[in-house]
Amino acid sequence: MTRVVVITGSSSGIGAEAAVQLGRRGWTVCLLARRADELDVVAARVRAAGGTASVHAVDLTDETATQAVVDQVLAEHGHVDVLVNNAGRSIRRSISDSLDRLHDHERVMAINYLAAVRLTHAFLPAMLERGQGHVVFSSTLSTQVPVPLFSAYLASKSALESYARSLLAELGHRGITTTVVYFPMVRTEMSGATSIYAAMPMMTSAKAGAWLVKATEDRPSRVTSLGGAIGQAGMSVLPGVLTKAIAPQVRRMDKRLQRKVRKQE
Ligand SMILES: NC(=O)c1ccc[n+]([C@@H]2O[C@H](COP(=O)([O-])OP(=O)(O)OC[C@H]3O[C@@H](n4cnc5c(N)ncnc54)[C@H](OP(=O)(O)O)[C@@H]3O)[C@@H](O)[C@H]2O)c1
Repeated sequence: MTRVVVITGSSSGIGAEAAVQLGRRGWTVCLLARRADELDVVAARVRAAGGTASVHAVDLTDETATQAVVDQVLAEHGHVDVLVNNAGRSIRRSISDSLDRLHDHERVMAINYLAAVRLTHAFLPAMLERGQGHVVFSSTLSTQVPVPLFSAYLASKSALESYARSLLAELGHRGITTTVVYFPMVRTEMSGATSIYAAMPMMTSAKAGAWLVKATEDRPSRVTSLGGAIGQAGMSVLPGVLTKAIAPQVRRMDKRLQRKVRKQE
């Protein structure tokens, strides 16, 4: 039977790379994001790699449009084996500069958390009926290791991780499994929005895409770097000590990156 994967946020970056790699490995890939033109380009890459792709342009913060796309995907492909909740946005801003910007939290929660939960709920009935389904969530190393300046973004990803654990705990015995993927910094449009990160060594989007392939095919409960796993273990034992120790190091790193970028200009 054809293996069908739905990947959100597949018009660029990590999602696009994962789509091409999964297409090459014989998956039928359903591409979801807002930019139809970019999705068409990715679909052409999937087909050139020997895979099958369908394009579904949708704003995943729109409830009605999301349900219409879910109906369309199920009508077109009959079933979905894996849903990869990868669409997202990031905001880098200090809490001190955000005191009158609650909308930062509302905006990132709308796509990073609520849209992923809505889409998962929409596909769950069909997955439960088949007695199998896997749901992947793109998260970040920065929820494993405390990092300043991303409070809204990290809160939305932590909420997603808690939801993923609940899903596995409640429906694991009915064939529903989950993977949380803790990416380090990856060179994409998202990380490119912060100018100092131009000077930071980062994972390529192709390698990050391979992490989503592993999550889709092997279905571990977590995909992480060793540093992330150690950080997560350390935080569960010494959260206050580690948070105080790491924050000044991140500030020093940001200053070093600023100097490097200025030199390059
Ligand atoms: N890059 C990093 O350093 C990094 C690190 C850790 C985790 N991550 C996570 O990895 C995931 C992919 O990010 P990326 O780095 O590949 O960035 P990206 O290239 O900016 O991809 C973000 C994707 O989300 C889609 N998207 C955003 N808002 C949407 C909406 N309302 N409806 C539908 N789709 C929407 C975008 O497509 P449209 O604009 O076409 O809608 C795009 O395809 C994100 O969840 C991010 O948080 C990234």
